[in-house]
Amino acid sequence: MIGIFDSGFGGLTILRSIRRHLPQYDYLYLGDNARTPYGTRSFEVVYEYTLQAVQYLFAQGCHLVILACNTASAKALRSIQQRDLPLLWQREGSSLKRVLGVIRPTVEAIGGYTHTGHVGVLATPGTVSSGSYPIEIGKLYPDICVTQQACPMWVPLIENNEHGNAGADWFVQKYVHEILQKDAAIDTLLLACTHYPLLEEKIRRVTPAGVRLLSQGDIVARSLEDYLMRHAGLERTCTQGATCRYLTTESEERFAASAAIFTGTPVTARHIELGSGAAGSLR
Ligand code: DGL
Repeated sequence: MIGIFDSGFGGLTILRSIRRHLPQYDYLYLGDNARTPYGTRSFEVVYEYTLQAVQYLFAQGCHLVILACNTASAKALRSIQQRDLPLLWQREGSSLKRVLGVIRPTVEAIGGYTHTGHVGVLATPGTVSSGSYPIEIGKLYPDICVTQQACPMWVPLIENNEHGNAGADWFVQKYVHEILQKDAAIDTLLLACTHYPLLEEKIRRVTPAGVRLLSQGDIVARSLEDYLMRHAGLERTCTQGATCRYLTTESEERFAASAAIFTGTPVTARHIELGSGAAGSLR
């Protein structure tokens, strides 16, 4: 079983692409909807919450967990990979439990899209302040100029299902104009938050024709496919029953109503609690 984690509904855009590319596996989605958004929270809090979620998904039988959230990938992934997983491997005598994020595969792909070498990153305040995108893009493509724009209102609009309304247009236009004012040579705008594909149509309407909008779903799915091909031992732990189950820290009814907007089909979720007890056992 492959675990997919997000602070809320955004990871469903990644899950959809992953299931399109790799329909054979079993998936367990966990949305921490009760504590979303993560984008305005501190490093410590995002790390703690993300660790609790990873631990929970491991306990359900997932060997591989994808942090389908840029904020969690930016603020928690490195600590989990470098500090928590090695301790777990030592305790279990096996390294067959892994956590992957969405930033690395996106950064690797970005060089293939921009022609001007000017990339814009639209993301949550947390992802922007982490500097993850400029730092990681700079390592792989030192010539690419990266401009960031925090869009603090976008995730709340989507999580509250207000993104389709006219009021959302103002905030969409505001952040797109701001980033293009900072660098008019941008030819690729990266939607560096897994919620943002839901605003893609509105973003497109206020973006000049020559600017490409880049979502992460297919990039992450192709990268996962490649990763599983290169890690046969881990791949064998991913059961293949083509199922998908959903967990949420919010109420099951609330999740079902909003998740359907992302998936296009009815969704049944099970409520779970995440707490500090769960995180403790990873360390
Ligand atoms: N989907 C998450 C991301 O990619 C949203 C973060 C949030 O909860 O603010 O960053």
